[in-house]
Amino acid sequence: MPPKCQYSAENGLINDWHRVHYAALARGGASLVIVEATAVSPEGRITPGCLGLWNDAQAEDLAQVAQAIKAAGAVRGIQIGHPGLKASANKP
Ligand SMILES: Cc1cc2nc3c(=O)[nH]c(=O)nc-3n(C[C@H](O)[C@H](O)[C@H](O)COP(=O)(O)O)c2cc1C
Repeated sequence: MPPKCQYSAENGLINDWHRVHYAALARGGASLVIVEATAVSPEGRITPGCLGLWNDAQAEDLAQVAQAIKAAGAVRGIQIGHPGLKASANKP
């Protein structure tokens, strides 16, 4: 499963949407689940609804997602990024 932005985060944090979404993809039979584009800084998010990985709370929550994907038998990945001049746009 390629990375697909969910535009559902607040303050870069995962929530129940992401927990269910990624575990379901793994349980559904995908062999590799790559978590959506995740920004290295607040201004590096594509939109305000994008995930982030610039503080410990975000890292701890994402570790739960990674564990859920692994527990379902899939390989976990994540797209770490910063979209440069295309960052800080609005949600679609
Ligand atoms: C809703 C949505 C969100 C996407 N988010 C990302 C993303 O976060 N990073 C990325 O590299 N590509 C993203 N893409 C592109 C997908 O990773 C993929 O390359 C594209 O959807 C083609 O695969 P598919 O035919 O399985 O949908 C996104 C696509 C969709 C439809």
